[in-house]
Amino acid sequence: QAADDYQQMERATKFFSYQLRQHQKAPAVVEYLKGRGLSGEIVKQFQIGYAPDGWDELLKALAKDQRSREQLVDLKLVNRNDSGRYYDFFRDRIMFPIRDRRGRVVGFGGRIIDGDGPKYLNSPETRVFHKGRELYGFYEAKQAHRQLQQVVIVEGYMDVVALAQAGIDFAVASLGTATTTDQLQMLFRATSHVVCCYDGDRAGRDAAWRALENALPLLTDGLQLTFLFLPDGEDPDTLVRKEGPEAFKQRLAQAQSFTDYFFSHLTESLDLASDSGRAALLNQAKPLIEKIASDYYRDELLQHLARLLRREVSQIEGQVARASTNV
Ligand code: GTP
Ligand code: MN
Ligand code: MN
Ligand code: MN
Ligand code: MN
Repeated sequence: QAADDYQQMERATKFFSYQLRQHQKAPAVVEYLKGRGLSGEIVKQFQIGYAPDGWDELLKALAKDQRSREQLVDLKLVNRNDSGRYYDFFRDRIMFPIRDRRGRVVGFGGRIIDGDGPKYLNSPETRVFHKGRELYGFYEAKQAHRQLQQVVIVEGYMDVVALAQAGIDFAVASLGTATTTDQLQMLFRATSHVVCCYDGDRAGRDAAWRALENALPLLTDGLQLTFLFLPDGEDPDTLVRKEGPEAFKQRLAQAQSFTDYFFSHLTESLDLASDSGRAALLNQAKPLIEKIASDYYRDELLQHLARLLRREVSQIEGQVARASTNV
């Protein structure tokens, strides 16, 4: 069953990529991709495709019998409506296949080209696709590097592909959700340095803080998590095309350290010259530091905290419980 699911997902990938070459609307879609700065080579490398406009193109191509039709429904490539009619889940969209760490296609992201509807449609959860545990572009990044010096986490499919197009072929996207502890764990097994680089907007800044919180139980000596905040209104795709790869790499190298971001975020709206401001900082930092399992990061944060509170480390250490378990 499972092996067959992966085969079916692979067939769908091939179908979409064939449509990008053959469909009557293909030239317009290719124009769109070119307009976004993508070369044919990069489209091929990520196996970007096109889900045709029509009700049941994929269904007709892939459903050989009742069993394979039900399988397509299970894989959420095909929907069944109330009156029992089957139709393609993705229609008239640019298709980004999502591969698991072993390179098997487990889901898709589909971008609208024009017209109404949500900008992106993502495969719902299926027996082979678990959103919080996959990262778009991770397999491709691992293919490009024997050893990943660093990995950049971005929000979107287009960010991953545009960065790869610019030669920054070590970016992954966390599929529209907040970056989970599972995803960070996966990355830290492959690299010692992860850079969070979300969109330069409110949602992106919120995502960065959530990533920091989710990383707390994982951080150990030798692992580095840094944060690159982009100018307002930019995302990695727009910025790398505007500034070029070298400027973007500069930004990556100058990303904010974990400790700097931790305290600059927490103290943003606090007045540390006042007793109440310092008490508030201790209150907010305490539960976060308590989630850290490693002595290295715990000590690092306690030292900075003590300095900000104008106390000695020994005076606050006892008030912050130690994380009980190690990862
Ligand atoms: P482009 O406009 O193609 O550059 O996309 P983007 O990646 O910049 O999109 P955006 O910053 O708006 O969103 C980031 C990511 O969130 C996307 O790559 C999707 O994974 C997800 N996303 C965006 N819009 C939607 C939507 O309408 N529905 C769902 N389910 N996910 C979305
Ligand atoms: Mn955004
Ligand atoms: Mn974006
Ligand atoms: Mn974008
Ligand atoms: Mn320090």
